[in-house]
Amino acid sequence: MPTAARIQPRYQNPAALGHDTVQFSGSQKAAKVSGRIHVDPEARRFRLTGKNMEYQLQVNPDGELLHLYWGKPVGNFDPKLLPHHKTHLTSWQNQLDVMPREMPDFGRGDNRTPAVQITTPSGQVTSRFRYKGHRVIQGKPSPEGLPGLYADRKSDAQTLVITMRDEVTNLDMELFYTVFRDQDVIVRSARLTNNSGEPVKIDKLASFAADFDPADYQLLKLSGSWARERQEERMDLKQGAINISSRVGASGHEHNPFVALLSPNTTEETGDVYGVSLVYSGSFSAEAEQNRNRYTRLVMGLNPASFEWTLAPGESFQTPEAVGVFSAQGLGGMSRALHKAYKKHLIRGEWQDKPRPILLNSWEAAFFDLNHDKLVRFAEEAKAMGVDLVVVDDGWFGDKYPRNDGTSGLGDWMANPEKFPRGMDGLAEEINALGLDFGIWVEPEMVNPNSELYEKHPDWVIHQPGRDRTEMRHQLVLDLGRKEVQDYIIESMSRLLESGRVKYVKWDMNRTMTEIGSAGLPPDRQKETQHRYMLGLYRVMETLTQRFPGVLWEGCAGGGGRFDPGMLAYFPQTWTSDNSDGPSRLRIQAGTVRAYPPMTMGAHVTDVPNTIIGRTTSLKFRFHVAMAGNLGLELDPTKLSGEEKAEIRRYLEFYRQIRHIVQDGEYHLLSSPADRSIAGNWPALAYVLPDQSEALVFAYQLQADAWGTTAPSVKLKGLDPEAAYRVSGIDDPVSGAFLMNVGLNPKLQGDYDSEIYHVKKIA
Ligand code: GLA
Repeated sequence: MPTAARIQPRYQNPAALGHDTVQFSGSQKAAKVSGRIHVDPEARRFRLTGKNMEYQLQVNPDGELLHLYWGKPVGNFDPKLLPHHKTHLTSWQNQLDVMPREMPDFGRGDNRTPAVQITTPSGQVTSRFRYKGHRVIQGKPSPEGLPGLYADRKSDAQTLVITMRDEVTNLDMELFYTVFRDQDVIVRSARLTNNSGEPVKIDKLASFAADFDPADYQLLKLSGSWARERQEERMDLKQGAINISSRVGASGHEHNPFVALLSPNTTEETGDVYGVSLVYSGSFSAEAEQNRNRYTRLVMGLNPASFEWTLAPGESFQTPEAVGVFSAQGLGGMSRALHKAYKKHLIRGEWQDKPRPILLNSWEAAFFDLNHDKLVRFAEEAKAMGVDLVVVDDGWFGDKYPRNDGTSGLGDWMANPEKFPRGMDGLAEEINALGLDFGIWVEPEMVNPNSELYEKHPDWVIHQPGRDRTEMRHQLVLDLGRKEVQDYIIESMSRLLESGRVKYVKWDMNRTMTEIGSAGLPPDRQKETQHRYMLGLYRVMETLTQRFPGVLWEGCAGGGGRFDPGMLAYFPQTWTSDNSDGPSRLRIQAGTVRAYPPMTMGAHVTDVPNTIIGRTTSLKFRFHVAMAGNLGLELDPTKLSGEEKAEIRRYLEFYRQIRHIVQDGEYHLLSSPADRSIAGNWPALAYVLPDQSEALVFAYQLQADAWGTTAPSVKLKGLDPEAAYRVSGIDDPVSGAFLMNVGLNPKLQGDYDSEIYHVKKIA
C-alpha cells in the first residue's frame, strides 16, 4: 500500500506521512495515545475511535489477534469479561473455534469460514498468522491500483497497520485500519507479502472480518435484478452461513456489495447496526455465519469462488478496502454515517460538491434512432425548458459497422458519418451555441463481433480457447487485464474528449462475464482474470479522470448493475436503474440510499406509459420521485404539449432552488415504501441540511384512499425543535417541534399523488 498521491488529486502528498514502527516489549510502560488510535503495550491492545464509535483489538499471549469490541465508546475493560471465556468446550472444539478473531486464518480448529486461505507449493493449506509488529500512520495511505477512501489532510485520519506473520511460509499479512477524525467509519484492508523463496497461492484474502458475540442478528442486504435493483431485505441468521455474492465480474444487479448486521428489534431510528460496504466493482462475497455457540462471523471481500492468485517471491497482494460503520441510531444513523464518509472521503474531483447539471438523455427519447438534426431539435426544446446538458446515448457510433441496434459497432468509437456528418464535435458545437453543454454515452469495456475492433483483435476478449464465446446482447467483454486493451480504451476515449467539448460521459457496461479466461495469462493464472480485469478497469478510469478533470462521469451497467463505492471513487454518480416508473423507483431509490448518498443516484423523468412497467403516472409524481435524486429528463421533448413543457420548466426551476439540499442534506426515511403495513402506502423521506436551516420533505401516496381516514401525518426528523420554520404551501411559520411531533398532512388524492415541502428556518 504505497502512500502515493496518485489516487486523489486533492490529496496532499502522503509520502510525508510519518509513522512509528513499534513492537510490544516489556520496556514500554505507559499507554501510547496517538490521537484517535490508542495503543496499550502492556495489555497488547489497540483502541480505535471514530466520532461515536470504538473498535478494539488485542493480541493474546499466543500472538493471535482478537476482535475485542466494536460499538459505542466504552474505554478500557477487562477482556476476561467477554463471553468466550465462559464457553464450555468439548473435545470436538478447541478454543480457536469460539475466539472472537480478527482476520481468521485456516486449518487449526476454527471451523468457521476463514478470512485468509493459502496453498503452499507442497500443498499445505494451513496457516498461522501471529502478531509481529505494528505502526501508526498519520493520515491514510491509498491502496495501490484500487479505489479507496482518502483524507485531505494528515490530521484528518490515522491508520494502524498490524503485521502478522506465518512462520512456516514466511508470509507477512499487514492489516490496515483507518479512522477519521470526523467520521464513524473504520476502513480496513489487508496486504499479503511473500517473503519466501517459493510462489504461494492465495485462495482467499478478505477485506473485512470480525466476530460478534452470541446474540440474535438479522442480515440486511440490497438484492434484486435488472429493473428491480437494491430491494432492501432483512433476514434472520440461524446456525449456518449465508453468502451474498457476485461471481459474474461486476458487483451486479443481484446483490450489492453492502450488508449490515443488526439486532432484530432495530428500527430506522433505534438499535445497533454494523454495516460493511466493499469498495470494489467486481465479483465479491459477504458471508455471515452463525456457529454452534451462536457466535456470528462476518467476512467480506473478493469472491474466493472466482479468484485465485499466485504470489511470487517478493510480491505483495493488496485487497480492496471495506468500510465498516457502527450506528447506535438504527438504520438511519448508519446510512447517514456512510453518506457522510462517501461524500467527504470517497467521491473526488471537481464535481464532488458542485451542483450537478440537469440533463436530457436521448435513450428513452429516441433509442437507436438518432441523427444530428434530431439531437439539435431536442437541444432547442431542452434549452427552453431549463435543461443544462444534452446527452447522446447509444447509437451514435460505428462506421463500417453502424450502431443501428444492439448487434454491431461496439468497440468502434467514431461517430457514424451518415447520422452525424459533422461528427460529435460538430454536434457539440451546435448544442453549445444554444447555451447547453454536451455529453456522450460509451460502453468501452465491450465489443460486438460485428466491429472493426473485433476484426483486428479477436483475442482481446475474455474467452477460453476451444470453447464457444457466449454472446449476451450480441456482445463480448474485452479483456481489461491486458495492458494493450487498457491503452486502446484510454486512447479511443481520449480522442473523444480531447476537444474539450464533451462535459459529461455516461460509461455503460451491459453484460456479465462467461468463459472467464485470458489469452494474456498462463494456464495456472487463469483464475486471476477477473481481478486483473478490475485492476485494468481502475487504471483506465484513473487515467481518464485525471486526464479530463472537468468531465462529469456517470457509471451505468444495464441500469444499476454496478452501483458500488469502487465506481463512485472515480465517477461521482451512477445510473440507478433502467426502471424509471415512479412507484418502482421509490423502492429502488430507498434501497440505494440505504448505502449511497442521494446525489449519486441518476434519476430521470421518462415518458408514460413506462417502457418497462407499462404504468402511467402523472408528470408531477414522476418529478417528485426523481427530484429525490440527481434529476434528469429522458423523453422526446418535441412530443410534449405546450402545457407539459411549461410544467416541466417549473419543476426544473424548483429543483435548481433545492438541489443543494439533495446534495448536502442528511437523509431521514420517514415512511418506507417497503413497509408492508398500511403506512407503506404513504412513503415519505426528508433531507435536512446539517445546520438544520433547510429541509426537503417528499411525501407520496401510492393507492387512493378515502382522504383523512388512514394516512398518517408526515413527522419530520432532524430539525431544530426550538426554531421557527417556514414551510412551502403553509401560511404561518411552525416550530421544528411541531413538524417533528405533529407533522405535515399533505392532501394527496387519487393513485400516485405526491407533495414536496421546502422547509426553511426563519433567520
Ligand atoms: C443500458 C443503459 C441504458 C441505455 C442502454 C443503451 O441498458 O442502462 O440507460 O444507455 O444501455 O443501450
